Amino acid sequence: MEMNFSKKMQNMKPSAIREIFKSLGMPGAISFAAGNPAPESFPVEALSKLAADIFAGDSTNALQYSVTEGYPPLRELVAARLKERFAIDTDNNMTLITSGGQQAIELCCKVMCNEGDVVICENPSFIGALNAFRSLGAKPVGVELEADGISIEGLEAALKANPNARFLYLIPTFHNPAGITMSLEKRRAVYALAQQYDVLILEDNPYGDLRFAGEELPTLKSMDTDGRVLYCSTFSKILSAGMRVGYACGNEELLQKMVIAKQVEDVHTNIFFQMLCAKYMQEYDLEQHIATIRELYRHKCSLMLEMLDKYMPKEVTYTRPEGGLFLWCTLPDSLPLGELINDLKEQGVFVVPGTTFNCDETVPSSSFRLNYSTPSEEQIERGIKTLCETIRKKL
Ligand SMILES: Cc1ncc(COP(=O)(O)O)c(C=O)c1O
Repeated sequence: MEMNFSKKMQNMKPSAIREIFKSLGMPGAISFAAGNPAPESFPVEALSKLAADIFAGDSTNALQYSVTEGYPPLRELVAARLKERFAIDTDNNMTLITSGGQQAIELCCKVMCNEGDVVICENPSFIGALNAFRSLGAKPVGVELEADGISIEGLEAALKANPNARFLYLIPTFHNPAGITMSLEKRRAVYALAQQYDVLILEDNPYGDLRFAGEELPTLKSMDTDGRVLYCSTFSKILSAGMRVGYACGNEELLQKMVIAKQVEDVHTNIFFQMLCAKYMQEYDLEQHIATIRELYRHKCSLMLEMLDKYMPKEVTYTRPEGGLFLWCTLPDSLPLGELINDLKEQGVFVVPGTTFNCDETVPSSSFRLNYSTPSEEQIERGIKTLCETIRKKL
């Protein structure tokens, strides 16, 4: 049968990153492509004990349908942590549990955007969000990302050019893919512009807990005085990505609409894993666990930077992240990115080309993303050497 797909899906491409996963079976392959947490960061023993306890003591709840808003004890724990850890006013904002941070982003777009509506994003931006916007018929419009966050002039120009933009999608802390953090000054300026142009902000903060250098900065949501910031985050990078437990916090009217949209997607987030998250927070020290992950990433990131500092030709620039999972390398214009990516692939080294993260995918990029959380130390050493030697030969 000939399939005649919807207009929305006709131009959607598979995620370049998920496609790279398929090539990783080759022996000795080194992936700097994924955004996966380090496998050694999963608290396997604790989770397996808690899972057994849930089935022994509360199996009916774990196996039954539940409420869309989320497992009540988990909602309370998340709200309390948002208040304590990120100074978010959870008394005047509602908290919704979602199936990963990804679903929170998608639900926000679904309830806010009509076909053809504009969402203003940093350029580059998170591919999962860009594809969610595209799949709903919304158009991501990119604003240049500078070393200290989104260009404020660029943002104002985009707001002027798109007076009906439905929201700003921003990853202010340890940006994916660029590893950049927005300065305090820019956070204030972004919020002021959002007020001036009366637009909603979707603040995506999956990496906010993973700071291993520099000073903590306030979330945009903690600066929110008029309910215009929808905050979303996830347990994916601090507990387990496969659990698919995330959350959104913001204006109750907006979240109630997202609840309705969620009901037709998955009814509710996997209740067993919500219970597991809640039990972990109740019975173990999540903050201590996060501290060990931070140490692990501090170490892996400094090793990657050390290798880059030692071997990378000086024509190539790269960011020096203070947290999160990624750094962003930029080649000189003379070196074609596509060729480099293919040469690396042949040697079993995988990186993600910058074009993947462009709001307009037809615009070429001379950058690529490197992940340091997933590869082992030995892989970081070997893979970065291969990367640098391959670039050196091409210059
Ligand atoms: C910026 C950003 N937002 C959201 C997500 C989604 O996270 P989750 O796995 O919880 O859906 C990710 C995952 O990589 C991300 O990098």
